[in-house]
This record gives sequence, C-alpha cells and structure tokens, in this order.
Amino acid sequence: MQIKQNISLKPFNTFGIDVTADYFVSAATIEDLKHIIALTDHPNKLILGGGSNMLLTQDFNGLVIHINLKGIEVIEDYDDYVLVKAQAGENWHDFVLWCLNNNYGGVENLSLIPGNVGTAPIQNIGAYGVELKDVFHSCEAVEINTQNLKTFNNTECQFGYRNSVFKQEFKGQFIITSVTFKLSKTHHNLNMNYGAITAELEKMKVSNPKIKDISNAVIAIRESKLPNPKILGNSGSFFKNPVISKSHFNKLQENFKDIPSYPVSETEVKVPAGWLIEKIGFKGKRFGDYGVHKNQALVLVNYGNAKGIDILNLSRLIQDTVLRIFEIPIEAEVNIL
Ligand code: FAD
Ligand code: EPU
Repeated sequence: MQIKQNISLKPFNTFGIDVTADYFVSAATIEDLKHIIALTDHPNKLILGGGSNMLLTQDFNGLVIHINLKGIEVIEDYDDYVLVKAQAGENWHDFVLWCLNNNYGGVENLSLIPGNVGTAPIQNIGAYGVELKDVFHSCEAVEINTQNLKTFNNTECQFGYRNSVFKQEFKGQFIITSVTFKLSKTHHNLNMNYGAITAELEKMKVSNPKIKDISNAVIAIRESKLPNPKILGNSGSFFKNPVISKSHFNKLQENFKDIPSYPVSETEVKVPAGWLIEKIGFKGKRFGDYGVHKNQALVLVNYGNAKGIDILNLSRLIQDTVLRIFEIPIEAEVNIL
C-alpha cells in the first residue's frame, strides 16, 4: 500500500474534472483501510468509489482513499434464494452481470448504473422501478473514528428515495466495506412496471422475458438517453426529482397543462425535474465546455475541460430558474466537493 502525492483525479471521476489530490491511496483490504483511517497526519480524508456521483469543484488538500476491496461470494444458499456478499470495491454493473450469469434475480433493473457496490447503499441507487433496498440484506462498514466494523440491516439503513442513514445521521462517519444481497434463485419477480421496459421487450421481440432480457431492455433504454461517461463526462441525474404537494401541483397544472407527475402519497406527487429543466429552455444548452445533455435535461455534461465550479454555477442557475418559474426547490443528487 503506497500513498502517492499530487495525483490528478480526472481518471477517477465520471465528470472528468481535472483537480489534484495532495495524497492518494488505494485500499484493497479491510486491514489496510483501518490502518489508513487511523493515520493522524492526514486528518482530511475523501472516500472515493467509482467517482460517478460527485462534482469536484476544487483541489483536494488531503488524502483520497480509493476503495478497492474485491470479491463476490455466496454466503448462504437456500432452495429459493441466496445471500451474496460483494466487497465494496466491486464494480456495480460487473456485479449485476455476475448475478445474471448465475441466474440470481433482483438486480437486473439496476443494470449499467456506474460506480461501486459499496456506494450503492449510500443513496439507495434506483432505476426502472427497483431500488437497492429491495434486494439489500445488510452491509458492513468501518466506523472512521473507532475503526470498528459494524453491520447494518435493511431497517437500520433507513433507505428512502436517493437517501439513507449514510447521507443523514451517519454522513461521513462510516466506510462501507461489503454489501450482502438477498437474490432469488427461482420464481424471479420480474419488475416490468416501467412502460418503457415492456415497449423495449416488444421491440426486442421477447414474449417470455427472463431476467437477462429485462437487463438487456434496461441497458438499451439507458443507452438511448444517458451519455456514456467514457465519451461525455457526467454524473447521471444531477438533481433529485422533487416531491410537491398535490395542491401546488394542481395550481401549476392551470398554467402547465402537460406537467407530468407520479403518485407518492395521498397528498404528494413527484414531478420529473428533467421536465421542469426542459420547460425552462435549458435542455441541450451548451456553454463552452459544459452544458445540459441534449437527450436528458437532468444530466449536466462536461464536453472536455470544464471546471467543476462552472458546472456548479450552471446547476445553481437552473435551480434558481426552476424556483422562480415553478416555485419548486430542486436539490442536487450529486455530492459536491
Ligand atoms: P462515488 O462518486 O465514488 O461516491 C459518492 C459518495 O459516496 C461520495 O460522497 C463518497 O465519498 C461516498 N462513498 C464512496 N464510497 C463509499 C464507501 N464505500 N463508504 C462510504 N462512503 C462512500 N444512480 C442511481 O441511483 N440510479 C441511476 O440510474 C444512476 N444512473 C447513473 C448514470 C450515469 C451515466 C452516471 C454517471 C451516474 C448514475 N447514477 C445513478 C449515480 C451513481 O452511479 C450512483 O450514485 C453510484 O452508486 C455512485 O457510486 P460511486 O462508487 O461512483 O460513488
Ligand atoms: N423528462 C423530460 N425531459 C427530459 C427528461 C425527462 O420531459 O429531458 C420527463 C419525461 O416526462 C419523462 C420523465 O421526465 O417521462 C422521466 O424521465 P426518465 O424516465 O428519463 O427518468 P428521470 O426521472 O429523469 C430517474 C432517475 C434516474 C433513473 C431513471 C430511470 C432520479 C433523480 N433519476 O430519472 O437515475 O435511471 O429515473 O428509473 O430519480 C441517477 O440517479 O443518476 C439516475 C440516472
């Protein structure tokens, strides 16, 4: 384990922002990780997974700890289901493919989400009708202050929409080292509630879909609208979809007849932020080396050498305009550093 100095983080974040970290170390074992977090000469630390949910706006004057713990194993095997434990540094999509190859069901709708397995619980990753919490059994995490390993079950993680205890009460206090999933072996519960999935399966001429077909459909849909970070820097949805009261929504509908919504509760609905951003005219707008993606207004992009601060300022302009026109505050999903 070697601590390197003055490392560019450009290859380590999917926005492709070029900032420098004073110190950088990759942790491949829990022992290494415990040793690193105990280092008192580096009080300022940043935990880095796949770098696909962060906007780096300045050089990092501290130690970046790159999570590189590897390994996937079945830890309990029953007739109907398995418990699979994956180490935090495993790539999420590779893990999904591993599950599909073993015919373990539950994560197929979450295909092609970038990032690490260990980061998935932080914001309870979700897509196409499934969230991590639906397959999450437990996770292990090292407490930064004590270096003790603690296990969190599903309830303890307090999962919500793009939310968990690790973004709230325990923000910055734990490093997740492994995640255990409960996955089906037989009678897979295929989730095709998203209209786009059934339409895609029809296009693919699949009438009796298997979990692999669902995954392929999700991949095709995602590739049609989300930019590949290897080609165009981005961090997925920059903002969360806001939840507003039904009375607020009804008032907006008087002026914006086509405003979409999804039910949340008796009194609230969720409004797609992509629609709000498109409506105010930002979709596809380019400002030099940064802008708003042409196929998905919720995605901000780096065309090459954008500065994090430029993208942050654009996000603030979008937030202010959405607030002024719709009286809806929209919150960043991406972690700003
Ligand atoms: P990073 O960006 O490395 O880290 C994110 C945050 O978690 C940081 O604050 C970091 O300090 C912290 N962190 C990282 N690892 C750990 C750890 N082991 N323990 C504790 N804290 C840690 N998200 C969705 O939910 N659904 C989607 O459909 C989706 N689509 C995306 C599409 C694209 C093209 C991109 C670029 C992103 C998308 N995302 C999506 C967002 C992103 O992929 C997820 O949030 C992912 O879980 C981030 O993982 P990461 O390892 O890259 O996190
Ligand atoms: N829309 C527009 N214009 C746009 C984009 C979207 O009008 O430019 C409207 C349309 O009405 C569309 C609706 O928004 O039907 C929803 O769009 P989409 O299906 O693309 O999903 P999203 O709400 O924009 C969310 C997640 C994604 C996830 C997809 C699929 C959030 C913040 N984003 O996006 O997650 O992949 O649903 O489930 O909840 C991420 O978190 O980084 C992410 C990509």
